[in-house]
Amino acid sequence: MSDIVAILERELGAGLIVGPGHERLDDYGRDESPLPEFFPPQCAVLCESTEQASAVLRICLERKVPVTPRGAGSGMCGGALPVAGGVVLSTEKMQRILEIDPADLVAVVQPGVVTGVLQQQVEAQGLFYPPDPASLEFCSIGGNAATNAGGPRAFKYGVTREYVLGLEVALMGGEVLRCGRRTAKGVTGYDLVAGFVGTEGTFGVITELVLKLLPKPPAAATVLGVFADIAAAGAAITMLLRDGLRPRVLELADRHSIDHIRAKSRYRFPENAGAIVLIEVDGEPDSMGMMMEKIGLRCDELGAIDVLGATEPAERRAVWEARRLISPSLKEAYRIKVNEDVCVPRGKIVEMLARVDQVSAETKIATAVFGHAGDGNLHVNFLSNDDPADPAVRAHMWSAAKRVFEHTIALGGTLSGEHGIGLTKRDYVHLEQREQLIEWQRRWKQMWDPSNLLNPGKKLPARTRACSE
Ligand code: MLT
Ligand code: ZN
Repeated sequence: MSDIVAILERELGAGLIVGPGHERLDDYGRDESPLPEFFPPQCAVLCESTEQASAVLRICLERKVPVTPRGAGSGMCGGALPVAGGVVLSTEKMQRILEIDPADLVAVVQPGVVTGVLQQQVEAQGLFYPPDPASLEFCSIGGNAATNAGGPRAFKYGVTREYVLGLEVALMGGEVLRCGRRTAKGVTGYDLVAGFVGTEGTFGVITELVLKLLPKPPAAATVLGVFADIAAAGAAITMLLRDGLRPRVLELADRHSIDHIRAKSRYRFPENAGAIVLIEVDGEPDSMGMMMEKIGLRCDELGAIDVLGATEPAERRAVWEARRLISPSLKEAYRIKVNEDVCVPRGKIVEMLARVDQVSAETKIATAVFGHAGDGNLHVNFLSNDDPADPAVRAHMWSAAKRVFEHTIALGGTLSGEHGIGLTKRDYVHLEQREQLIEWQRRWKQMWDPSNLLNPGKKLPARTRACSE
């Protein structure tokens, strides 16, 4: 047994350690990213408290062992993969909701709380936590904050960053820092909360969060606009955005995406659907009918071949279950699924969809496109049943993804709207950001983690040899 495993067992107790020979150890070498490789750590420590997380970070700095923080392992970009080996610090057991305060409109939670569980708990008290990544049944709040996760409702309510008021963070070396606040506003000092959210566990390990809550909207309703094809649906989204409508959700799914969920879905999607625009509104119950009618009429005017409404909770649940099934269903159907997460300025959605089609035609790789089109955030999936172990096949898939990145940047967009950069996209950051900007970010990382032991090899491209220290 390696030195570090023995030391951690001695200091923290063997009960927290998933070590060599443990049947679950390999799980900590994988996540939901489309990588064929597997990165086994020496061990995973399933921390139950801030003190334990801090101890792991102290011991690992003393021993110069890399540490990879991990939430629920639902990330899609390899952000939680221990690429340098060492120790995985998992927060999956830190699942306590410490406080829900309806007067202050805040919740205080540990990072391992499952997002959907938090939503249910606050909704039971008439409150609302809007960020709703598709993996909400199993992803955790700590991971959501680490990646600044979004989801469909980000269209109206914004992403995780907007709901994190305060953080407790354990730093490499074991120091514990509390930053932020629990008030609705506050500008004392620099905004370190913003500096930790979205850094994918490269600056510190989030051990507690103060989250902003809202009053729960009293009612919600869902409208499905059915279009002949994705171009028509994309054009309708552009027009709906120009109308100044502010539904809480404005989603798109192409035919390929819909076809993959048909068989499993309790909701019956129309056979003639070439693409679907999913629109959801919320507000006072007696305004729902009028809002749905307005949206329905507008979809008709914009060329919808059918418009369907869903107001009953069971029907709406069925629609959302189906929507959340798109990604897992594609993963099940194909041996390779390179799922990208580009985000373009809203005015460029139609052009971007055309360019994705063009890349698919040029590379002869099948695509499925769905996602948060109202935000310009498109999940472009490259799909293949070729051999994932064949390097040429993988290189071809990634060359298609790169073309999509290039088109995205040319249109003024960004590589990732919500999934993160992690491992899979770090080599493409140069397409979007200049070396000067990347270098300033490396210096920032160095401030928190001078030994580069905390989640190394993620988020930013490696320095080229010419400019390495
Ligand atoms: C979604 O919106 O379904 C996810 O963010 C995309 C995915 O799982 O690929
Ligand atoms: Zn998404």
